[in-house]
Amino acid sequence: MATTTTPRTPTPEHAETQPHSGQRDARRVPLAVWPVGQRSAQYQRTGRYHPDCTAHPGKMLPDLARRIVVEYSQPGQLVADPMAGTGTTLVEAALAGRRAVGVELEARWVDLARRNAAHVLDLASRRLVTVHQGDATDLAALLGDDAGAVDLVCTSPPYACDVGNLDATNWGAGHNLCATAERNYSADRANLGHARGHAYEQAMADVYRACRAVLRPGGILAVVTKNTRRKGRLFDLAGLTVALAEAQGFTYLQHVIALHAAVRDGDLVARPSFWQRTQTEKARARGEAVHLVVHEDLCLFSAGPAQLTSSAKETARAH
Ligand SMILES: C[S@@+](CC[C@H](N)C(=O)[O-])C[C@H]1O[C@@H](n2cnc3c(N)ncnc32)[C@H](O)[C@@H]1O
Repeated sequence: MATTTTPRTPTPEHAETQPHSGQRDARRVPLAVWPVGQRSAQYQRTGRYHPDCTAHPGKMLPDLARRIVVEYSQPGQLVADPMAGTGTTLVEAALAGRRAVGVELEARWVDLARRNAAHVLDLASRRLVTVHQGDATDLAALLGDDAGAVDLVCTSPPYACDVGNLDATNWGAGHNLCATAERNYSADRANLGHARGHAYEQAMADVYRACRAVLRPGGILAVVTKNTRRKGRLFDLAGLTVALAEAQGFTYLQHVIALHAAVRDGDLVARPSFWQRTQTEKARARGEAVHLVVHEDLCLFSAGPAQLTSSAKETARAH
Protein backbone atom coordinates (compact mmCIF):
# COMPACT_ATOMS: atom_id res chain seq x y z
CA MET A 1 0.00 0.00 0.00
CA ALA A 2 1.29 3.46 -0.83
CA THR A 3 2.95 5.37 1.94
CA THR A 4 3.94 8.97 2.16
CA THR A 5 6.09 10.88 4.56
CA THR A 6 3.40 12.80 6.29
CA PRO A 7 3.56 15.22 9.19
CA ARG A 8 2.44 13.45 12.32
CA THR A 9 1.19 16.27 14.45
CA PRO A 10 -1.34 14.68 16.76
CA THR A 11 -4.26 17.01 17.07
CA PRO A 12 -6.71 15.29 19.38
CA GLU A 13 -10.16 16.72 19.60
CA HIS A 14 -9.78 16.06 23.25
CA ALA A 15 -7.94 13.85 25.67
CA GLU A 16 -9.35 12.86 29.03
CA THR A 17 -6.35 14.51 30.60
CA GLN A 18 -3.90 16.41 28.48
CA PRO A 19 -0.60 16.95 30.29
CA HIS A 20 1.12 15.45 27.26
CA SER A 21 -0.51 17.68 24.69
CA GLY A 22 2.06 20.44 25.08
CA GLN A 23 4.66 18.06 23.71
CA ARG A 24 2.83 17.66 20.42
CA ASP A 25 4.86 19.91 18.27
CA ALA A 26 5.94 19.67 14.69
CA ARG A 27 7.79 16.35 14.94
CA ARG A 28 7.50 14.25 11.83
CA VAL A 29 7.69 10.50 11.46
CA PRO A 30 6.98 8.37 8.41
CA LEU A 31 3.40 7.14 8.14
CA ALA A 32 2.49 3.76 6.68
CA VAL A 33 -0.78 1.91 6.20
CA TRP A 34 -0.93 -1.83 6.72
CA PRO A 35 -4.08 -3.60 5.46
CA VAL A 36 -4.11 -6.25 8.19
CA GLY A 37 -7.91 -6.63 8.13
CA GLN A 38 -8.26 -8.24 4.72
CA ARG A 39 -9.34 -11.37 6.61
CA SER A 40 -11.72 -10.92 9.55
CA ALA A 41 -10.36 -11.31 13.09
CA GLN A 42 -12.46 -14.42 13.49
CA TYR A 43 -11.10 -15.92 10.27
CA GLN A 44 -7.53 -15.13 11.33
CA ARG A 45 -8.05 -17.13 14.54
CA THR A 46 -10.41 -19.93 13.58
CA GLY A 47 -8.72 -23.31 13.40
CA ARG A 48 -5.51 -21.88 14.82
CA TYR A 49 -6.16 -20.17 18.17
CA HIS A 50 -8.04 -21.79 21.03
CA PRO A 51 -11.82 -21.17 20.77
CA ASP A 52 -11.82 -19.84 24.37
CA CYS A 53 -10.07 -16.71 23.04
CA THR A 54 -13.48 -15.16 22.40
CA ALA A 55 -13.63 -14.46 26.16
CA HIS A 56 -10.82 -11.86 25.96
CA PRO A 57 -12.20 -8.45 24.97
CA GLY A 58 -9.07 -6.83 23.49
CA LYS A 59 -6.96 -9.20 21.43
CA MET A 60 -4.42 -8.14 18.82
CA LEU A 61 -5.09 -9.19 15.24
CA PRO A 62 -2.82 -12.18 14.52
CA ASP A 63 -1.94 -10.79 11.07
CA LEU A 64 -0.87 -7.52 12.71
CA ALA A 65 1.21 -9.25 15.40
CA ARG A 66 2.89 -11.41 12.76
CA ARG A 67 3.72 -8.46 10.56
CA ILE A 68 5.23 -6.51 13.46
CA VAL A 69 7.35 -9.50 14.44
CA VAL A 70 8.54 -10.19 10.91
CA GLU A 71 9.26 -6.54 10.05
CA TYR A 72 11.02 -5.60 13.27
CA SER A 73 12.91 -8.69 14.43
CA GLN A 74 14.96 -11.49 12.94
CA PRO A 75 14.62 -15.29 13.35
CA GLY A 76 16.32 -16.41 16.55
CA GLN A 77 15.85 -13.03 18.24
CA LEU A 78 13.90 -12.39 21.43
CA VAL A 79 10.42 -10.83 21.45
CA ALA A 80 8.63 -9.78 24.66
CA ASP A 81 5.07 -8.73 25.50
CA PRO A 82 4.64 -7.27 29.00
CA MET A 83 0.81 -7.32 28.79
CA ALA A 84 0.41 -10.52 26.87
CA GLY A 85 -3.33 -11.24 27.18
CA THR A 86 -4.09 -14.38 25.19
CA GLY A 87 -0.52 -14.52 23.90
CA THR A 88 -1.05 -13.47 20.27
CA THR A 89 2.36 -11.79 20.06
CA LEU A 90 4.04 -14.82 21.61
CA VAL A 91 2.38 -17.34 19.31
CA GLU A 92 3.09 -15.34 16.15
CA ALA A 93 6.68 -14.74 17.26
CA ALA A 94 7.27 -18.45 17.87
CA LEU A 95 5.65 -19.34 14.54
CA ALA A 96 8.17 -17.00 12.92
CA GLY A 97 11.08 -18.66 14.72
CA ARG A 98 11.65 -16.06 17.45
CA ARG A 99 11.93 -16.74 21.18
CA ALA A 100 9.00 -15.14 22.96
CA VAL A 101 8.38 -14.21 26.56
CA GLY A 102 5.18 -12.74 27.93
CA VAL A 103 3.92 -11.29 31.21
CA GLU A 104 0.23 -11.05 32.07
CA LEU A 105 -1.42 -9.98 35.33
CA GLU A 106 -4.51 -12.20 35.22
CA ALA A 107 -4.22 -15.93 35.92
CA ARG A 108 -7.16 -16.49 33.57
CA TRP A 109 -5.36 -14.97 30.57
CA VAL A 110 -2.00 -16.52 31.49
CA ASP A 111 -3.66 -19.91 31.36
CA LEU A 112 -5.26 -19.07 28.02
CA ALA A 113 -1.98 -17.79 26.56
CA ARG A 114 -0.30 -21.07 27.54
CA ARG A 115 -3.16 -23.09 26.11
CA ASN A 116 -2.95 -21.07 22.89
CA ALA A 117 0.74 -21.84 22.56
CA ALA A 118 0.00 -25.53 23.10
CA HIS A 119 -2.92 -25.39 20.64
CA VAL A 120 -1.19 -23.56 17.79
CA LEU A 121 2.46 -24.56 18.01
CA ASP A 122 4.28 -27.82 17.43
CA LEU A 123 6.41 -29.19 20.24
CA ALA A 124 9.63 -27.53 19.06
CA SER A 125 8.03 -24.08 18.66
CA ARG A 126 6.26 -24.39 22.03
CA ARG A 127 9.66 -24.46 23.68
CA LEU A 128 10.29 -20.96 22.31
CA VAL A 129 7.45 -19.50 24.43
CA THR A 130 7.44 -18.57 28.13
CA VAL A 131 4.49 -16.92 29.87
CA HIS A 132 4.84 -15.45 33.37
CA GLN A 133 2.01 -14.32 35.59
CA GLY A 134 2.98 -10.96 37.02
CA ASP A 135 2.98 -7.21 36.71
CA ALA A 136 4.38 -5.62 33.57
CA THR A 137 6.54 -3.31 35.67
CA ASP A 138 8.39 -6.39 37.00
CA LEU A 139 9.45 -7.31 33.46
CA ALA A 140 13.20 -7.12 34.12
CA ALA A 141 13.04 -9.34 37.18
CA LEU A 142 10.79 -11.85 35.41
CA LEU A 143 13.08 -11.99 32.37
CA GLY A 144 16.19 -12.68 34.47
CA ASP A 145 19.25 -13.10 32.24
CA ASP A 146 17.26 -12.01 29.19
CA ALA A 147 16.77 -8.50 30.61
CA GLY A 148 18.71 -6.09 28.40
CA ALA A 149 18.76 -8.57 25.51
CA VAL A 150 15.22 -8.17 24.13
CA ASP A 151 15.18 -7.24 20.44
CA LEU A 152 11.50 -6.33 20.13
CA VAL A 153 8.78 -5.50 22.63
CA CYS A 154 5.41 -5.87 20.90
CA THR A 155 2.38 -5.06 23.01
CA SER A 156 -1.00 -3.41 23.25
CA PRO A 157 -1.82 -1.61 26.47
CA PRO A 158 -5.07 -2.13 28.31
CA TYR A 159 -7.44 0.81 28.20
CA ALA A 160 -11.10 0.99 29.09
CA CYS A 161 -12.16 -2.16 27.32
CA ASP A 162 -15.86 -1.77 27.80
CA VAL A 163 -17.11 -5.17 26.86
CA GLY A 164 -16.02 -8.70 27.52
CA ASN A 165 -18.38 -11.62 27.06
CA LEU A 166 -21.61 -10.44 25.49
CA ASP A 167 -24.82 -11.83 26.96
CA ALA A 168 -27.47 -11.32 24.27
CA THR A 169 -30.20 -12.99 26.36
CA ASN A 170 -29.57 -10.63 29.25
CA TRP A 171 -29.53 -7.69 26.85
CA GLY A 172 -32.77 -8.81 25.20
CA ALA A 173 -34.36 -8.83 28.66
CA GLY A 174 -33.42 -5.16 29.08
CA HIS A 175 -30.30 -5.72 31.22
CA ASN A 176 -26.60 -5.10 30.60
CA LEU A 177 -25.10 -6.52 27.44
CA CYS A 178 -21.97 -7.35 29.41
CA ALA A 179 -21.68 -8.11 33.14
CA THR A 180 -19.69 -5.44 34.98
CA ALA A 181 -17.22 -8.09 36.18
CA GLU A 182 -16.43 -8.93 32.54
CA ARG A 183 -15.38 -5.38 31.67
CA ASN A 184 -11.84 -4.01 31.54
CA TYR A 185 -10.23 -7.49 31.29
CA SER A 186 -10.96 -8.33 34.93
CA ALA A 187 -13.01 -7.37 37.97
CA ASP A 188 -9.68 -6.73 39.73
CA ARG A 189 -9.26 -2.95 40.04
CA ALA A 190 -5.48 -3.44 39.95
CA ASN A 191 -5.82 -4.33 36.28
CA LEU A 192 -4.76 -1.27 34.27
CA GLY A 193 -7.89 -1.69 32.16
CA HIS A 194 -9.60 0.15 35.03
CA ALA A 195 -7.09 2.99 35.33
CA ARG A 196 -8.00 6.41 33.98
CA GLY A 197 -6.47 9.87 33.75
CA HIS A 198 -3.35 10.58 35.76
CA ALA A 199 -3.30 7.12 37.37
CA TYR A 200 -3.26 5.52 33.91
CA GLU A 201 -0.49 7.80 32.68
CA GLN A 202 1.71 7.11 35.69
CA ALA A 203 1.16 3.37 35.48
CA MET A 204 1.88 3.22 31.75
CA ALA A 205 4.97 5.42 32.19
CA ASP A 206 6.23 2.73 34.59
CA VAL A 207 5.45 0.01 32.05
CA TYR A 208 7.36 1.82 29.28
CA ARG A 209 10.28 2.36 31.67
CA ALA A 210 10.27 -1.38 32.31
CA CYS A 211 10.26 -2.03 28.54
CA ARG A 212 13.23 0.30 28.09
CA ALA A 213 15.13 -1.59 30.80
CA VAL A 214 14.79 -4.96 29.07
CA LEU A 215 15.44 -3.86 25.46
CA ARG A 216 18.95 -4.00 24.05
CA PRO A 217 20.30 -0.68 22.75
CA GLY A 218 18.56 0.01 19.45
CA GLY A 219 15.82 -2.55 20.22
CA ILE A 220 12.30 -1.73 19.07
CA LEU A 221 9.17 -0.99 21.07
CA ALA A 222 5.97 -1.56 19.08
CA VAL A 223 2.74 -0.41 20.75
CA VAL A 224 -0.69 -0.99 19.23
CA THR A 225 -3.41 1.36 20.50
CA LYS A 226 -6.95 2.20 19.56
CA ASN A 227 -8.44 5.63 20.05
CA THR A 228 -11.75 5.56 21.86
CA ARG A 229 -14.65 7.92 22.40
CA ARG A 230 -15.89 8.71 25.84
CA LYS A 231 -18.91 10.92 26.23
CA GLY A 232 -18.70 11.81 22.58
CA ARG A 233 -15.09 12.96 22.70
CA LEU A 234 -12.03 11.32 21.25
CA PHE A 235 -9.43 9.98 23.63
CA ASP A 236 -6.15 10.03 21.72
CA LEU A 237 -4.41 7.03 23.25
CA ALA A 238 -1.83 6.95 20.44
CA GLY A 239 -0.80 10.55 21.16
CA LEU A 240 -0.56 9.83 24.88
CA THR A 241 1.49 6.70 24.19
CA VAL A 242 3.99 8.65 22.10
CA ALA A 243 4.39 11.23 24.87
CA LEU A 244 4.79 8.59 27.58
CA ALA A 245 7.32 6.53 25.60
CA GLU A 246 9.37 9.58 24.64
CA ALA A 247 9.46 10.63 28.28
CA GLN A 248 11.16 7.29 29.00
CA GLY A 249 13.87 8.00 26.43
CA PHE A 250 12.37 6.18 23.44
CA THR A 251 12.76 7.68 19.99
CA TYR A 252 9.56 7.78 17.94
CA LEU A 253 10.43 6.17 14.60
CA GLN A 254 7.34 5.38 12.63
CA HIS A 255 3.56 5.51 12.77
CA VAL A 256 1.49 2.79 11.13
CA ILE A 257 -2.24 2.79 10.53
CA ALA A 258 -3.25 -0.83 11.06
CA LEU A 259 -6.36 -1.01 8.96
CA HIS A 260 -9.05 -3.30 10.36
CA ALA A 261 -11.45 -2.57 7.56
CA ALA A 262 -11.01 -4.68 4.46
CA VAL A 263 -10.04 -2.94 1.23
CA ARG A 264 -12.38 -4.20 -1.51
CA ASP A 265 -12.51 -2.68 -5.00
CA GLY A 266 -11.16 0.60 -3.68
CA ASP A 267 -13.66 0.82 -0.82
CA LEU A 268 -13.18 0.28 2.88
CA VAL A 269 -15.47 -2.39 4.28
CA ALA A 270 -15.75 -1.92 8.05
CA ARG A 271 -15.94 -4.92 10.34
CA PRO A 272 -17.60 -3.51 13.46
CA SER A 273 -18.46 -5.68 16.42
CA PHE A 274 -22.08 -5.68 17.51
CA TRP A 275 -21.07 -3.38 20.39
CA GLN A 276 -19.23 -0.89 18.16
CA ARG A 277 -22.08 -0.73 15.69
CA THR A 278 -24.68 -0.24 18.42
CA GLN A 279 -22.65 2.46 20.16
CA THR A 280 -22.04 4.31 16.90
CA GLU A 281 -25.69 4.14 15.91
CA LYS A 282 -26.74 5.47 19.31
CA ALA A 283 -24.24 8.33 19.08
CA ARG A 284 -25.45 9.28 15.63
CA ALA A 285 -29.05 9.15 16.85
CA ARG A 286 -27.98 11.68 19.52
CA GLY A 287 -26.70 13.91 16.75
CA GLU A 288 -22.99 13.20 17.25
CA ALA A 289 -21.20 13.10 13.91
CA VAL A 290 -19.13 10.01 14.63
CA HIS A 291 -18.06 7.13 12.42
CA LEU A 292 -16.96 3.61 13.08
CA VAL A 293 -13.28 3.42 13.97
CA VAL A 294 -11.71 1.17 11.35
CA HIS A 295 -8.08 1.20 12.38
CA GLU A 296 -5.62 0.85 15.22
CA ASP A 297 -2.43 2.88 15.62
CA LEU A 298 0.92 1.16 15.71
CA CYS A 299 3.55 3.44 17.26
CA LEU A 300 7.14 2.32 16.76
CA PHE A 301 10.04 3.47 18.90
CA SER A 302 13.70 2.68 19.24
CA ALA A 303 15.39 2.25 22.58
CA GLY A 304 17.93 5.03 22.42
CA PRO A 305 18.79 7.44 19.66
CA ALA A 306 17.06 7.14 16.28
CA GLN A 307 18.79 4.19 14.72
CA LEU A 308 16.82 1.92 12.47
CA THR A 309 17.60 -1.79 12.73
CA SER A 310 18.34 -3.48 9.42
CA SER A 311 14.83 -4.95 9.29
CA ALA A 312 13.30 -1.58 10.12
CA LYS A 313 15.40 0.00 7.35
CA GLU A 314 14.02 -2.54 4.91
CA THR A 315 10.51 -1.74 6.10
CA ALA A 316 11.08 1.95 5.58
CA ARG A 317 12.37 1.24 2.05
CA ALA A 318 9.53 -1.12 1.21
CA HIS A 319 6.89 1.47 2.03
C1 LIG B 1 -5.07 -5.11 25.22
S1 LIG B 1 -4.88 -6.52 26.23
C2 LIG B 1 -3.59 -7.39 25.41
C3 LIG B 1 -4.14 -8.41 24.47
C4 LIG B 1 -3.09 -9.25 23.76
N1 LIG B 1 -2.27 -8.44 22.87
C5 LIG B 1 -3.78 -10.38 22.98
O1 LIG B 1 -3.69 -10.41 21.76
O2 LIG B 1 -4.47 -11.17 23.61
C6 LIG B 1 -4.05 -5.87 27.64
C7 LIG B 1 -3.75 -6.91 28.69
O3 LIG B 1 -3.02 -6.28 29.74
C8 LIG B 1 -3.31 -6.98 30.95
N2 LIG B 1 -2.85 -6.16 32.08
C9 LIG B 1 -3.50 -5.15 32.70
N3 LIG B 1 -2.74 -4.62 33.68
C10 LIG B 1 -1.57 -5.31 33.67
C11 LIG B 1 -0.36 -5.24 34.41
N4 LIG B 1 -0.20 -4.33 35.39
N5 LIG B 1 0.64 -6.12 34.14
C12 LIG B 1 0.50 -7.06 33.16
N6 LIG B 1 -0.63 -7.17 32.42
C13 LIG B 1 -1.64 -6.31 32.65
C14 LIG B 1 -4.82 -7.19 30.85
O4 LIG B 1 -5.26 -8.22 31.71
C15 LIG B 1 -4.98 -7.52 29.37
O5 LIG B 1 -5.02 -8.91 29.13
